[in-house]
Amino acid sequence: MANAHAKIETNIGLMIILITIMVSIGGLAQIVPLFFMNSTTKPIEGLKPYSPLRLEGRDIYVREGCYLCHSQMIRPFRAETERYGHYSVASEYVYDRPFQWGSKRTGPDLHRVGGRYSDDWHYTHLNNPRDVVPESIMPSYPWLAQTKLSTDDSIKTKMETLRMLGAPYTDEEIANAPKALEGKTEADAIVAYLQGLGTSISSRR
Ligand code: HEC
Repeated sequence: MANAHAKIETNIGLMIILITIMVSIGGLAQIVPLFFMNSTTKPIEGLKPYSPLRLEGRDIYVREGCYLCHSQMIRPFRAETERYGHYSVASEYVYDRPFQWGSKRTGPDLHRVGGRYSDDWHYTHLNNPRDVVPESIMPSYPWLAQTKLSTDDSIKTKMETLRMLGAPYTDEEIANAPKALEGKTEADAIVAYLQGLGTSISSRR
């Protein structure tokens, strides 16, 4: 046995291979169960897949790079929960593809911003944040309110793709999706998106 050890310790190639095997076993033991646990794979009660309008809003959120300044992930620490509300749980994100956790907080976390402000507040804030928060360094997004959403079939394609990945859309919901976007602006979509964020857990403040 002592000999075998000496052999491993003096042979770096063998050592790398054995370490890789050990780390892989440890890694798999931690990661694989996550794919089968209800708390990480099943939607939290009351969670709905994104409506067509909110889905468009989410895409605009990604397009505009909001995630570069805003996280959507409240950690289970007192300083976080006092400020933002209930910490985030995995089952709130099952319809998020890709999730918007983010890793940078130039602005506040947005995971429980839904319902915190009025729609009017958001429209004003998006158009020019300084109108409601004078010291804000957030950029203005005036074009959102001036740009109408497209009502072509692209929304159907998006919903069909998400359905393949597990979002329970009905045929009827998909068929009616373009109609739901008629006359709406990009600002309408992003405000609808923001107002729904984090609302399946409502223990905020
Ligand atoms: C350059 C960084 C930056 C970018 C990019 C950015 N924000 Fe912000 N955001 C901030 C800062 C800083 C604040 C805090 C001051 C304020 O309320 O304006 C903020 C505040 C907010 C708030 C209020 C949050 C609260 O709890 O008070 C919302 C909602 C918001 N941003 C949404 C967005 C959206 C939507 C986008 C993309 C269209 C975006 N932000 C892009 C920096 C940014």
